[in-house]
This record gives sequence, C-alpha cells and structure tokens, in this order.
Amino acid sequence: MTSFAKRYGSWAVVAGASEGLGEAFARDCARRGLNVAVIARRVELARRLADDIASTAGVQTRAMRADLASRDDLDHIVADLADLDVGLLIYNAAFSVVGPFWNFDVDTHLKEILNDVVKRPQQ
Ligand SMILES: NC(=O)c1ccc[n+]([C@@H]2O[C@H](COP(=O)([O-])OP(=O)(O)OC[C@H]3O[C@@H](n4cnc5c(N)ncnc54)[C@H](OP(=O)(O)O)[C@@H]3O)[C@@H](O)[C@H]2O)c1
Repeated sequence: MTSFAKRYGSWAVVAGASEGLGEAFARDCARRGLNVAVIARRVELARRLADDIASTAGVQTRAMRADLASRDDLDHIVADLADLDVGLLIYNAAFSVVGPFWNFDVDTHLKEILNDVVKRPQQ
C-alpha cells in the first residue's frame, strides 16, 4: 500500500465525476491505490467510468446517482456510503460559466449562485 493510500484510504468519494476534472480526480485516486465511489446526476456516465476504473486500476468502485442540490438525494448518498471506509472526499460538482459577466442572462448567474435549491421569485 502506498503512503497516499495509507493516508487517505480505503475509499475516495468524488462528487461530480461523470466527466471533466471529477473524472480525472477519480482516475488519479485509483491510480494511487484507493477504491473510488463516483457521484453524478448522469449515472450511466458515472457507471461507465466506475467500470473502466475497476478494470484498468484493479480497485473497487461504486457509482451513485444523485443531484447534490437535492436534500433527499443527499440523504440517500449518506446511506449508500455508510458501509464504506471513506478517507477522502473530493467535492468537485458545481455549475459555473466561463466568459464575460454580461454574456450571460440573470437566470444563468442565479443558477451559478443558488443552483436549483432556491427558485427565482416570479415578477
Ligand atoms: N475546468 C476549469 O478550468 C475550472 C477552473 C476553475 C474551477 N473549476 C471548477 O472545478 C469543478 C469541475 O469543473 P469541470 O470543468 O470538470 O466541470 P464539468 O465538466 O461541468 O463537470 C462537473 C461535474 O459535476 C457534476 N455535477 C454538476 N452539478 C451536479 C449536481 N447538482 N449533482 C451532482 N453532480 C453534479 C457533473 O455531472 P452530471 O452533470 O452528470 O451531474 C460533472 O460530472 C467545478 O466546480 C468548476 O467550477 C473548473
């Protein structure tokens, strides 16, 4: 067992790992010897990633569907992780736009700040 796995093992949880940086974090944790649980709304992508990591890195994996802006989904995730010895959480899920502020409408900026938890009041 490497020192990284000793320090952060035996499971890493990567929230927001169907693509992008989350996928890269998940793959790197596995490369360093951790078992990996990946969470995303598009669970088919997360499953495909989990299967690929398991076959290439030889670690255990788990894929879970959750919208991390949903209180109910959070409760399910906590229950689904209860049997794992989690030493590392990488909270990568987020919505953010890239570009000049004025290129995006107000609803897009509100989504970035509030996600879907709070709906904009109707005018
Ligand atoms: N890429 C950059 O250059 C950069 C620079 C600075 C900071 N960041 C930050 O780094 C993080 C990742 O960036 P990225 O470029 O890899 O973004 P990305 O490609 O959009 O990936 C975001 C991941 O988060 C998941 N996600 C988003 N909202 C979610 C929710 N409500 N519940 C569950 N999963 C959710 C997405 O999966 P699903 O859609 O399947 O749920 C996806 O797997 C973000 O926080 C971003 O703001 C990125």
